[in-house]
Amino acid sequence: MSNKVSPLAGVVGWPIKHSKSPVLHRHWLNRHNLPGQYLPIALPPEDLASGLRKLAGKGYKGVNLTIPHKESVLLTAHSITDRASLIGAANTIHFHADGTIGADNTDGYGFIQNLRQNAADWEPESGPALVVGAGGAARAIVWALLSEGVPSVNIANRTRIRAENLADHFGSRVKVVEWNEVSDATDGATTIVNTTSLGMEGQPELRIHFDAALPNALVTDIVYTPLITPFLEKARERGLKTVDGLGMLLHQAVPGFESWFGHRPDVDEELRQAVLQT
Ligand code: ATR
Repeated sequence: MSNKVSPLAGVVGWPIKHSKSPVLHRHWLNRHNLPGQYLPIALPPEDLASGLRKLAGKGYKGVNLTIPHKESVLLTAHSITDRASLIGAANTIHFHADGTIGADNTDGYGFIQNLRQNAADWEPESGPALVVGAGGAARAIVWALLSEGVPSVNIANRTRIRAENLADHFGSRVKVVEWNEVSDATDGATTIVNTTSLGMEGQPELRIHFDAALPNALVTDIVYTPLITPFLEKARERGLKTVDGLGMLLHQAVPGFESWFGHRPDVDEELRQAVLQT
C-alpha cells in the first residue's frame, strides 16, 4: 500500500480573496482525478518569510504568489531561476526536500504560451514590439519578448522614469517612447501589448488608436476583465489580430501545477469557461 501523502499547494497574497488561481488548479485536480489540495493563503507582507517556512514545514510542495509578494520573496528564496532574477520578481515558489525555497517566474512564459496557442502564425522576430506600461507585468513581458527574439522593444509609460529604468535594466534593445505619442509608436510594431491596468472594469480606458499600425500587427492585453477590452476592440475594428489576456493567467499556472501534482495540464476552452464563470 502506498503511504504517499496527497500533495498540498496554494496561492499566497494579501488580500487573497480575488485570486482566480484556486479555481483553475482545482479544475485541473478534478479533471485529472488527482489527489491534492490547492488553497488560498492570506499572509501580510511582514509575515511572508516566516509564513513560507511554516508552509514548507506543513508539507506544502510550493505556492504561487500574488500581490504584494512577488518582488519581496526574492529576499527569502535560497535559489532564484535566471528568468525570475532578470524579471526581478517570482510568482512560483518550490519548497524543496532539503528545506530550501526556490523562486521562479512563469509570467513571461504564460504570456508567450498564450500567444503561441491563440496566434499560431505570430513571428516575434518579424519586427519591433510596443509595450504600453512599465510596471511588474511589463518587466516579465519585456523579458519574454526579448527571449523570444523580438529585435527591439519600445516602451511607453505615463511615468517616464519607470520606462527608462526598464530600458536601462534590459539594455540597448529596449527604448523609451513618449507616453503622449503612443498611437504613433504603433507604426512599424508587429507585436503591441498593453501591460497597464487601463481598460480593466472600473478603470479608464487606454487612449490609443491603431491608424498607423501594420496590418499584420498582433495586439494583446494582459487585462482580461472584460475579456475584450476597449484596447482590443479598437485593434479589431482596424482589422488586426488580437489575443485576450485570460490565457496568460492560465498558462502561467501550468509549470507549478505540473511540479506539485505530477501531471502537465492542458489549457483549453473548458478551463477558460470554468475561470470565467467565477
Ligand atoms: P503591475 O505589477 O500589475 O504591472 P504596477 O507595477 O502598479 O502593476 O504597474 C501598473 C502600470 O499601469 C504602470 O505602467 C502604470 O503607469 P505608471 O508607472 O505611470 O504608474 C500603469 N497605469 C496604471 N494606471 C494608469 C493610468 N491611470 N494612466 C496611465 N497608466 C496607468
